[in-house]
Amino acid sequence: MEDKIVYPSVNDFLRNQLPKHSGLLYELEEYAKEPYIPIIQPEVAQFLKVFFGYSRPKKILEIGTAIGYSAIFFAGLDENTEIVTIERNPDMAKLAKDNFKKSGLENRITLIEGDAAQVLETLEGEFDTVFLDAAKGQYMKFLPNILRLLKIGGTLITDNILYRGIVADENPPKKHITIARNLRGYIIEITHNERLETSVIPLGDGVGISKKLK
Ligand SMILES: C[S@@+](CC[C@H](N)C(=O)[O-])C[C@H]1O[C@@H](n2cnc3c(N)ncnc32)[C@H](O)[C@@H]1O
Repeated sequence: MEDKIVYPSVNDFLRNQLPKHSGLLYELEEYAKEPYIPIIQPEVAQFLKVFFGYSRPKKILEIGTAIGYSAIFFAGLDENTEIVTIERNPDMAKLAKDNFKKSGLENRITLIEGDAAQVLETLEGEFDTVFLDAAKGQYMKFLPNILRLLKIGGTLITDNILYRGIVADENPPKKHITIARNLRGYIIEITHNERLETSVIPLGDGVGISKKLK
């Protein structure tokens, strides 16, 4: 599908300037290529590396673990960061657990297996950052619990928020109509919710950065 967010030539140029990962992160990047497993895009990972360098989150809640790539990446940025990550697919959860062991960071990463819609209801405590990277159609459903769990001044980061630009299409392709409608509703909510200050960045597949004000 054509990417309507960033010109492919600009994307390619910028991607070529990014630092290359080595070790386990590189292995997981290769693993995720075939069969394709969606992991955080390189330019989004680099952006969050810079952002977390400023915001220094101690507790990150991730919704959508897949093989554990982003959780390992975040945990590797700062030895004071703890991650709680939720994954509903048992095969992915098993791969992620193995990868957390391999990374040597498993003492700072807690994986909760289950559907985030239910798991979020049971979570307590405060998180500095929530990284939302799961089924896009459900983002809106997760929002009340995310707001409950996010501390005031904390950041909600929503990945894939522009869904290849389809959210802005007047007439989205038929098979993407529901997801486009759901994401549109979510964007309208987080940009107008008085408890949030939000910026939507056309980076990667679109990234929402929302600060919880109250
Ligand atoms: C885009 S991938 C996550 C990629 C990962 N954050 C990374 O960058 O390495 C999305 C994952 O979310 C999981 N997922 C989707 N909906 C979910 C839900 N409601 N609860 C828990 N996990 C969910 C999927 O099974 C999939 O593994």
